[in-house]
Amino acid sequence: MDIKEYLSTQKNIIDEALDYYLPKAHEYPQIIHEAMRYAVFPGGKRIRAILVLAAGEAVDGNGKEEGLLQAACAIELIHAYSLIHDDLPAIDDDDFRRGKPSCHKKFNEAIAILAGDALLTYAFYLLSKIKDVPEKVIKTCEEISYAIGTFGMIGGQVVDIESEGSKNLDVPTLEYIHTHKTGALICTSVKVGCILGGGDKNQLHSLSQYGKHIGLTFQIVDDLLDIEEGGKNGKKRKSDLLKKKLTYPAVYGVESSKKQVELLIEEALADIAHFNHKADHLRGIAQFIGNRRY
Ligand code: IPE
Ligand code: IPE
Ligand code: MG
Ligand code: MG
Ligand code: MG
Repeated sequence: MDIKEYLSTQKNIIDEALDYYLPKAHEYPQIIHEAMRYAVFPGGKRIRAILVLAAGEAVDGNGKEEGLLQAACAIELIHAYSLIHDDLPAIDDDDFRRGKPSCHKKFNEAIAILAGDALLTYAFYLLSKIKDVPEKVIKTCEEISYAIGTFGMIGGQVVDIESEGSKNLDVPTLEYIHTHKTGALICTSVKVGCILGGGDKNQLHSLSQYGKHIGLTFQIVDDLLDIEEGGKNGKKRKSDLLKKKLTYPAVYGVESSKKQVELLIEEALADIAHFNHKADHLRGIAQFIGNRRY
């Protein structure tokens, strides 16, 4: 199966599961359930969720276990929450997301804030429902909560907004932002797939390295798309430039950023070179992340 076909099949599996797990829009209080679903559907690439399943497969599971799917959905809900809050006037102030008005534009700021909170909370409810040995479920919760907190995604978001407009193009800060605001959740998706898929310590180490490399790459490409593609993610072009964000192209220039993407993908592939054919989907995803145009 080629990677595009694989990603589209997996996206359908994730979409169906998300629809099943999420509270229905008609449940009281309707407005919050509508707002949660508005931010989740029709959704984006579902790449984090797909990584959970692909990592589960790479460590010899079939990548189709119920617990993996629940964790994949939980991570996708966390991602959706992070985007709602990222678009708020107080953070990136973006009026569009995935080609439609962002959550606070469609509803209002209060509902958008609460929908983000609700998605984050519901994600952990879903994780608590995983029927697997308690050690694996607890490890999964520990892994995810650490990755999205102040030592991970939130830390990255804080430094991202604090660095807006900064004149000194400081490389360690730039790397911190990218590896934390985006890299942490991507890396954790791979690790969770490994944990729930029954991977051993060595596999977890290799997959964690792979996750770090593709996670950083993902945000460098996001920065490049912000400059190059009209309406990436259905958003305004050059949104980063307007806000004077600390980005890879701003610090290194476009060509050098592209070169770094190539090198990072090579490193990610090397991290899992000793895995068998069951890691082919992870290999395909790494290449997709390096080459993506959306
Ligand atoms: C966008 O993520 C925000 C970042 C963390 C870079 P994605 O590009 O994965 O967004 P969707 O979910 O596919 O729309
Ligand atoms: C978003 O990064 C990171 C998180 C939501 C945690 P960006 O601000 O670069 O994402 P886009 O460009 O709005 O999708
Ligand atoms: Mg942002
Ligand atoms: Mg943003
Ligand atoms: Mg961006």
